[in-house]
Amino acid sequence: MQQEINPWSSDQSLDIERLFGDFGIEPISTVTDLLPSIPYFIRRGVVIGHRDYQRIAEAIRFHRPFHILTGFMPSGHPHLGHLMVMKEVVWHVQQGGSGYITIADREAHAVREISWKKCDEFGKEYLQCLYALGFHGRTYFQSRNDPLKNLAFEASTKVNFSEMQAIYGFSPETDIAHAWSVITQVADILYPQVDGIPAPTIVPVGIDQDPHIRLTRGVAHKLRMFTVEDRESHISVRSKEAPPEALEEVHRAFPGSRKFEGHVDVPGGVCADVADMVREIERRHGGFGFFTPSSTYHRFIPGLQGGKMSSSIPESTIGFFEPPETVKKKVMAAFTGGRSTLAEQKELGGEPGKCSLFALNLFHMVEDDAELGEIRSRCLSGEMSCGQCKKETLARVTEYLAEFREKMDEVEHMVEV
Ligand code: TRP
Repeated sequence: MQQEINPWSSDQSLDIERLFGDFGIEPISTVTDLLPSIPYFIRRGVVIGHRDYQRIAEAIRFHRPFHILTGFMPSGHPHLGHLMVMKEVVWHVQQGGSGYITIADREAHAVREISWKKCDEFGKEYLQCLYALGFHGRTYFQSRNDPLKNLAFEASTKVNFSEMQAIYGFSPETDIAHAWSVITQVADILYPQVDGIPAPTIVPVGIDQDPHIRLTRGVAHKLRMFTVEDRESHISVRSKEAPPEALEEVHRAFPGSRKFEGHVDVPGGVCADVADMVREIERRHGGFGFFTPSSTYHRFIPGLQGGKMSSSIPESTIGFFEPPETVKKKVMAAFTGGRSTLAEQKELGGEPGKCSLFALNLFHMVEDDAELGEIRSRCLSGEMSCGQCKKETLARVTEYLAEFREKMDEVEHMVEV
């Protein structure tokens, strides 16, 4: 049975590994060898799955252009649960990607009924966090981006109601704004290729967003005029909805090619080069020439109370402007992998794999692998008590937040609303 994924559900207890098989998501380990350096979020098993990431890894390796885009719904203050995807974006920008951030205010307004004023306030905070982490690139609010809306309209010509129903379980009672917010996200994901040049685009997301990724990949394909396929003996360029003049131009671009009804066969050549040329011709004839977007999937950081991390459960997470007293309270009360008595813990050791604070250290608070390994082995051996670990973790969190706030203040002027 296929596991359903609903992007608006509050239940994030999805078994990611199982979803790989069901939905065609690949383990990230299949492509990491291509990367010149492996970032800590892959090394530590936080980012674990992908679709078509080899394109991005190659672009990084061979210094070819690529885009990196993700989005945030401004339905509350940013908190620890958003930090990972922000760092993924910043890392890809540092690797040469052109960065894009969308603030999904249309989605927040349509799906979560957040006022426009609140959308602005929260959205600004997300952008401030990103700049504080070192983001460079373009940012926009969905509601104020006209080319995005035009692209969404174009995308909507390729999606019908039964698809919306099949993917998201939409019913006749679903309001149209909800469908609009979906198609706007499709447009978000394709937007860098319209605003900039067509290029591979990586979209780092949590697994809950995969339905949008699948839908967008389908739309990107449907909006192409041509498909290019390596058939071993030749390269086949098929017209889908290309005007006859465009197919003729493809034929003329490749000496020795043969033109048939609806397709051109190119003898020999490198498929990627043929694809690039065809993309250019498509663009000259008013097409988009999209690359099908790629995605990565990360695990969700567990909540400090032991369940999921969400702004709707205050004790599960820490906001970036929380006062030291509540930060302290939350860390000291966090769910750990400790045993029921100190004596038992000394004998059996703790269980870092079950501990929300170990996860917090692994995700964000300890950059050095050796130091993290040390924490793990002190826990496993029973040498370090949970009380001690909480104190040490609190010190790290406090320092992190203080520095982060300072940086956020410094970059405030960069945020445009
Ligand atoms: N739907 C996303 C969320 O709920 C936000 C979002 C909007 C997004 N557009 C996007 C995410 C494009 C990734 C790519 O958080």
